[in-house]
Amino acid sequence: MKIVNSIEQLRKLLNRQVRQRQTVGFVPTMGFLHEGHLALVKKAREENEIVVMSIFVNPTQFGPGEDYATYPRNEQRDAALAAEAGVDIVFMPDKDEMYPRVGDIQIFPGKQAEVLCGASRSGHFDGVLKVILKLFNIVDPDRSYFGMKDAQQLAIIETFVEDFNFRTTIERVPTVREKDGLAKSSRNVRLSPKERSEAPVLYEALQLGKKQLEQGKEASVVEHEVAQLIENKTSGAIDYVALLAYPSLQPLTADSEEAILACAVNFEKARLIDNVIVKLKDELPCSE
Ligand code: PAF
Repeated sequence: MKIVNSIEQLRKLLNRQVRQRQTVGFVPTMGFLHEGHLALVKKAREENEIVVMSIFVNPTQFGPGEDYATYPRNEQRDAALAAEAGVDIVFMPDKDEMYPRVGDIQIFPGKQAEVLCGASRSGHFDGVLKVILKLFNIVDPDRSYFGMKDAQQLAIIETFVEDFNFRTTIERVPTVREKDGLAKSSRNVRLSPKERSEAPVLYEALQLGKKQLEQGKEASVVEHEVAQLIENKTSGAIDYVALLAYPSLQPLTADSEEAILACAVNFEKARLIDNVIVKLKDELPCSE
């Protein structure tokens, strides 16, 4: 496995003539790798000849007062895990390599970013799209792999790729969970032992909500009951519990085929997000 820090070096390695007809699968990450990332690599490895992973804690997607400075980092461990998982090239640029000057061109993601995490993390998805645009231009991947745990990010990137005709396809990879249901996340290490024992309630509550929706319960009642369960059984502060059409992230209509039931909960040092996807059309009773 090669570790490269410069854009020029990476471009040389991935030069179209060098790679000839080999496809490139790309796994963008902010490091502190866990099994969720490794599931992305596994799929990329199965589907491509070359697998590239980027590890870059992107400052433009963190707002003032957010955890950019304290975001967990461990480059050595990440490199070992990436090598073991079969990554061919790890791209680990520093901040100056990615943002050598203070450019003021912004990218605005639109309506999909006005809800859920976008509503409370102003500018977050602008920063995500900025770095993704740069990474897609640098790596020029055939396929790019994103986890469903960050379902809003995934939906916005799918729109970005479609709207701006990127060459890459976006591959969705299911959320990887701990045995007790907690979605794997780099931020889980920041939970206190008490919070860690409470955290599986998020998924428990979402699953309950999903079941209720499938049984035909009204959306607002479901949102309320999911929030109630999280509030009663954890010490975290709920940012949102919301049900929206997926991947449009607009309010549900009679035509919606899939919905996302999502939540974000702020614990003392970690913000946790999770979601479940609910198929709506399959659940409708047959009209005959
Ligand atoms: O999901 C992440 O880790 C980040 O948002 C991403 C996609 C690597 C962009 O910095």
